[in-house]
This record gives sequence, structure tokens and C-alpha cells, in this order.
Amino acid sequence: MVPTWDSTIRHELDLVEEEMRGSVVSEQELLTEISLYVIGSGGKRIRPAIAILSFKACGGTDVPKVVKIASAFEMIHAATLIHDDINDHGDYRRGRVAAYKKFGTQKALIAGDFLFVKSFKMGGTFDERIVGMVADACTAIAESEMLQSLYEGDVDAPVDKYLKIIEGKTAKPIEAGARVGAYLAKADEARIDQMGEYGLAIGMAFQIIDDILDIVGNEKTLGKPKGVDFVDGKPTLPLIFAMADAEHGPEIKRLFLKPDKSHQDAEEALALVVRTDAIAQSRRLARQYTDKAKAALSELPDTEYKASMVKLADALAERDT
Ligand code: IPE
Ligand code: IPE
Ligand code: MG
Ligand code: MG
Repeated sequence: MVPTWDSTIRHELDLVEEEMRGSVVSEQELLTEISLYVIGSGGKRIRPAIAILSFKACGGTDVPKVVKIASAFEMIHAATLIHDDINDHGDYRRGRVAAYKKFGTQKALIAGDFLFVKSFKMGGTFDERIVGMVADACTAIAESEMLQSLYEGDVDAPVDKYLKIIEGKTAKPIEAGARVGAYLAKADEARIDQMGEYGLAIGMAFQIIDDILDIVGNEKTLGKPKGVDFVDGKPTLPLIFAMADAEHGPEIKRLFLKPDKSHQDAEEALALVVRTDAIAQSRRLARQYTDKAKAALSELPDTEYKASMVKLADALAERDT
């Protein structure tokens, strides 16, 4: 079998699954059921993987510790996904009906809060610096989701605001996982910064690719619907570029501004987006970030974990799931 980026940490990722399942048991069975519905439906486990790889690449040995904090990061992510689908009207998630569609918005909101709190319980067993890093990551998500909501329906959203939004909602949490992994491995400050740089750049590329896949992805392999960003009026990078296109931009903008967009409007608009250079332009920027991520690893000693981190960066840039 060809070794994939996660083959070096398969065992630790299995332990993360166990840890998460064990920590969502509640006397309210529905809370456990909704949590397991989301956690158990797959997901790429990118966030725990990066924390663990950073830890291992920095020479860390206390596996139970990193498994615990890596699980906390994945559970925070699961919580944000539950809330995110309510906000974004995403009907499917990880190949299943979204939690709020299946259990109702009210119960899904509570389950999201429950997962946040359980993550904090896990994270709270660590020292102040780690608790601070986890809390800052959660703050960044909330602040960026708020900023993003202010740009909804804005055809003039600038690229720098887009970058600020995705940095907060996706890249900073991934950066925090990479930093925490290095810190737990007792790496020095310079090394922690390098791992943070890797995580931040990977996170930027990751969200840009996600936004590209919302336009050109395969719904089956993605496990979530396409065109959601367009229908929601979210000015993502490919849409910002497409709306600036001399030929098709004006029509894409007109459709983007329609208040009650139909499925047909979205299909028409996305068909125009792919006729512009927007997807290629966005891919180029994503590639710059993955190159930056790999460059951040230059001083790290050569190990199989470092090799996995390089592979992960390349796999993310090419991904279609
Ligand atoms: C989805 O994250 C939300 C984004 C930040 C794009 P993932 O694409 O990592 O979702 P899962 O965990 O693999 O389902
Ligand atoms: C990621 O952005 C949201 C969070 C960080 C919670 P998206 O809204 O694009 O994620 P998907 O596409 O729904 O997975
Ligand atoms: Mg969403
Ligand atoms: Mg998306």
C-alpha cells in the first residue's frame, strides 16, 4: 500500500476516536446521540492530525496528552460544524443529513454548546498557556463568523477582508493545534513558531480550496452540497475574482444580489464562474500558502512525521473531498 500522509499516526488517530466517543456520554441521551451522529459520520480529522504530527515531529513522546488535546480540537470543530450548518443553511454534512435537519435547530444548538463545553473540559486539564491558545482559537472563530456575516451579500468585498475572515475561522484554529502539539513536545519557542506558521498557512490553503470546491467539487465525495456559499451570498475568493471578470462579472453579480436565489440561479452563476479565470487564480493563491507551509518546515529534523506534514500540505492543495 502506498503510505498516505496519515499512515504515520494511524494509532494516535484511532485513540482520538476513542477519546471523543468516551467524552460525549451524557445522562441526556439525545446529547450523546447528536454528538455521536456528527463525530461518527467521518470527517478528515485534519485538526487532530496536525496537532499530533507537530507533536511527533518535535520529538514528543507523551501520547495520551496529545491525544486528549487533539480530541478537544476536533470536538470544537464538530461543534462549529453543527452551528455552521444552521447559519449557512447547509443541508448535508459528511454525507448525512445535517444535524439540525435531523434533530431540529433547537436541539442541534444545544448539542453544539455541549460539544464546546466538553472540549473545554478536556482542554482545561492542561496548563494556562494551552488553555489560552484553545480559547483564543475559539474567539477567532466567533469573531470571524461575525465579520463574515457583515459581508454577506456584498459584491464589493475586498480580498484582504476575505483573507482576514478565513484566517480567523479556519487558519487560526489549525495554527493553535500545531502550536499546542509543539509546546507539549517541549519544543523551544522558535520551533513552536515554525509549527504555528505551518498550521496557519495550511489553514489558509485549506479554506480557499473548500471555497473552490463549493463551486467545482463533487458533492458525493465532499459529503456536503455545492453552491451553498453563492446562495448564502458569501463573497468567497473565487466569487470575488469571478465578479471582477470583465465579461461574466456583471451577470454573476446580478445573480449574487438576487434576494431569494433559486437552485437554477446558483447553477447559472456557477457555470459562469467556471468560465472565468477565478478558479485558477484561487488555486494559485492556495498553492502559495501550501508552499509557505512547507517552507516553514525547513529547519525541522527529517523524520517520517515531517514527511507526513509535507505530504499533507500537498494532498490538501490537490484534494477534492
Ligand atoms: C469543514 O472542515 C469546514 C471548513 C473549515 C472548510 P473540514 O473540511 O475539515 O470538514 P471535515 O471535518 O473533514 O468533515
Ligand atoms: C468553515 O467555512 C466554517 C467554520 C470554520 C465553522 P464553511 O462554511 O465554508 O464550511 P463548510 O463548507 O460549511 O464545511
Ligand atoms: Mg458552512
Ligand atoms: Mg465551505
